[in-house]
Formats: sequence, C-alpha cells, structure tokens
Amino acid sequence: MNIMAAASNANLLIATLVLLAAILDRGSCEVDENIIDLSHKYSNTAMVTWPMLLKFNISVGFKGLTPGGVYYEEKRFCTSEHSGTHVDAPLHFYEHAQSVDKIPLKTLIGPGAVIDVSGKTDDDPSYEVTVQDILDWEADNGRIPDGAVLLLNTGWHRRWPNDVEYLGTKADVNNPFNPDYRWPGLAGKTAQWLADSRSIGVYGVDCVSIDYSGSSTFPVHKIFLSPEHGIPSLENVANLDAMPPTGTRVYAIPMYIRDGTGAPTRLFAVVNGGQRHLPAFGLVAVIVLLARRCLL
Ligand SMILES: *[C@@H]1O[C@H](CO)[C@@H](O)[C@H](O)[C@H]1NC(C)=O
Ligand SMILES: [Zn+2]
Repeated sequence: MNIMAAASNANLLIATLVLLAAILDRGSCEVDENIIDLSHKYSNTAMVTWPMLLKFNISVGFKGLTPGGVYYEEKRFCTSEHSGTHVDAPLHFYEHAQSVDKIPLKTLIGPGAVIDVSGKTDDDPSYEVTVQDILDWEADNGRIPDGAVLLLNTGWHRRWPNDVEYLGTKADVNNPFNPDYRWPGLAGKTAQWLADSRSIGVYGVDCVSIDYSGSSTFPVHKIFLSPEHGIPSLENVANLDAMPPTGTRVYAIPMYIRDGTGAPTRLFAVVNGGQRHLPAFGLVAVIVLLARRCLL
C-alpha cells in the first residue's frame, strides 16, 4: 500500500464516520417524535389535588433588572409531594420503608403495559378492576413483562383538571373521605394477585389515588408499597389514550428528594424504543465492508 492510497483510504474512513454521525443524529430526531408525555402540567390553577394536601403554589421570587442592568427572573414553589403526576414511595405508608430517593432508576424505567378499562368505568365510576380484566388483557397482549410499568387507563385523565368530574364532587379540604367522591381503581384482590403473580416494577393510574374512591383502608397502597413488594406507584397519570397497550419504554423520573414519601414525576413513554438501532446496525455493516476494502 503506497502513501497516496493510504491517504485516500483515510479520507474514505473519515467520510464514513461523518456519515455515521449524521445518520445516528437523524435517528435520535426520529425517536424524539415518538415520545408520549404522560404528565399533567403543574400550575396554580389547573390542577386537582387530594383534599387536605398542600396545593402546588408558584410565585415570582425576583423579576426585573439586576443592579448591573441584566434581566433576571426566578420563581419559587411550594407543594405537597403528592400533588400532580407523582410517585408514591413505600415510605408513604410504611414507617422506615424506602424513600423516593432510594428507588433505583432502573426500577423506574421499564416496558409499558397499558390496560384500558375506560369502557367499564363509564357506567360505573367506582369500578374495581378484576383479575379477569388483567387476564383478558394478557390474552390479547401476552403476559405482563417482568419490570413493567403497568398503567391503568380508567379514562379519568380526560376529566382533569375539573375537580367535580375528577373527584365526583367539589374538593373539600375538611373532608378527605367525603362519601360522594367517585373514581375507579384496582380491587384489593387484584392488587394482591398482581403483587404475588407478576413482577411489575411500577404501577400507575390516571386517578387521584391508586385506591378507588370507596376505600377507606387503602388496600392497594398497603399491598404495593409494602416492604415485601415495594412497587412504587404513580397517581394522576395523564394522556393514556395516546398509549398503545405494549411496544413502549416508560420512564418515571421523580424529583430527587431526600427522605421523600413521594415526588412530582415527569412521566413519559418512548414508542418502539428498539427501532432506532436498525439504521445504526445497517451502518455498522457498511463500515465493516468499507474497512475491509480499505485495509486489505
Ligand atoms: C403562594 O405563595 C406565596 C408566596 O409565598 C404566598 O404569598 C401566597 O399567599 C401563596 N398562595 C396560596 C394560595 O397559598
Ligand atoms: Zn401519592
């Protein structure tokens, strides 16, 4: 191989690497277009919070010119850990149990499994999801994968942020157990079956609580958040109608609060997360072929 040939081979390799970078970059743009946001936005007005809890409240800390003439703006907020789209950590129902900062990120990321029961809740707003509902879903979609982020679409996210529709009656700060509250959820028996028979990583629902409105003993919280099962659970999940039943990777990313019993969570799904590897895979094959031509 003479020096001229070596130089042109080097140029070819560089050109190939530039092409590789361009194609990988394009690949990541395509992935962006397939992100589904499953979070409600925090604001002072358009939110429903469990009665009794401190509502999200944001205000301006500073807005204006600094002494040096530079525009500067800063806001501050105050909130219960449990307002908006948020995760409950085991510590929420068990003293000394795992706090939100101790939940490993790998638990909070997993294949999405979305069970739509919104057809059943139209007629029965206190509907309790049965084991048979889960088995029916599995008959169509396969067994719930280990480490899944299992999300229940009750249709309630469509009622947000109308508190009368979302809670069944006007939120009453003095009465967290108003008998007129109405929203669906898993039956306690179904939660027990899921905890014992499947290995989900995270559970979530598009209602104000993972327990349905008629419960005063919180069986779903008690089962999922128990130190034995330790399944972090999401409340006030948004936008579930946009989700396919399977074929997504869901990311539940809570604020990193030391000793938190829960935390506001940015929840989103990436659709067909595996597909972006296809162009990269094809390109690796091209590079191998070119490298062989260059170097042999
Ligand atoms: C929100 O916070 C601000 C700043 O602390 C306070 O002045 C205001 O009263 C609060 N609003 C409510 C509704 O609590
Ligand atoms: Zn909570």
